[in-house]
Amino acid sequence: MPDETTLHPVRWPPAPITTGRLVLREPETRDRTAFIELLASPEVHTYLGGAQARDELEREMPEVPERWPGSFVVELEGSMIGQILLRRSPGDRRRAVAGKVSLGYLFLPRAWGFGYATEACVAALDWLAGALPGEPVVLATQSANAASMRLAAKLGFTEVERFEAWEAEQWLGLRSPITPSG
Ligand SMILES: CC(C)(COP(=O)(O)OP(=O)(O)OC[C@H]1O[C@@H](n2cnc3c(N)ncnc32)[C@H](O)[C@@H]1OP(=O)(O)O)[C@@H](O)C(=O)NCCC(=O)NCCS
Repeated sequence: MPDETTLHPVRWPPAPITTGRLVLREPETRDRTAFIELLASPEVHTYLGGAQARDELEREMPEVPERWPGSFVVELEGSMIGQILLRRSPGDRRRAVAGKVSLGYLFLPRAWGFGYATEACVAALDWLAGALPGEPVVLATQSANAASMRLAAKLGFTEVERFEAWEAEQWLGLRSPITPSG
């Protein structure tokens, strides 16, 4: 991933972040199988433009997948259940997102419906508020992605605009800077 889209100059990786039930940490070799499962899952990619081919992922996935500043593995009881992505949007994107930090989240279907995504995103946003104080965060999701829209609302994102792209309506939310809790 090119430098300008990462969270430079944050110190990375941070010490693992522990929540009530989860650990957020940088990716490791032992996460490779779960990453392949996540990226090859048609269910996970229903609103994300389609999954990648499993055999291609098996061949091309680096030994340590997705290791870049802002890429958190979310772990439950020692196993990866999802990924949280915090990255700076390139300057040539829509005006509302260009140059801003954006939040993304992907969880394995078996981990949906337990509040894990909410718990992990709150912790990641809290970490960001400490690492880059005063930084607003944007979030783009298809408006048809009901679970993602609910999560965005729970996290305090409010609508900036809706637009058509990739043959679907996209929702763009903004979360104003807050002070870290605790
Ligand atoms: C988007 C996504 C992360 C949401 O996952 P999720 O599990 O539905 O999200 P949450 O963590 O908010 O948990 C949802 C439910 O768990 C329930 N829940 C159960 N136990 C809970 C607990 N202990 N604490 C909190 N909530 C709990 C909540 O009631 C909530 O239901 P609701 O949304 O109907 O109110 C998931 O659907 C996903 O990975 N989708 C594919 C990837 C994707 O589309 N990403 C978006 C693009 S960035």
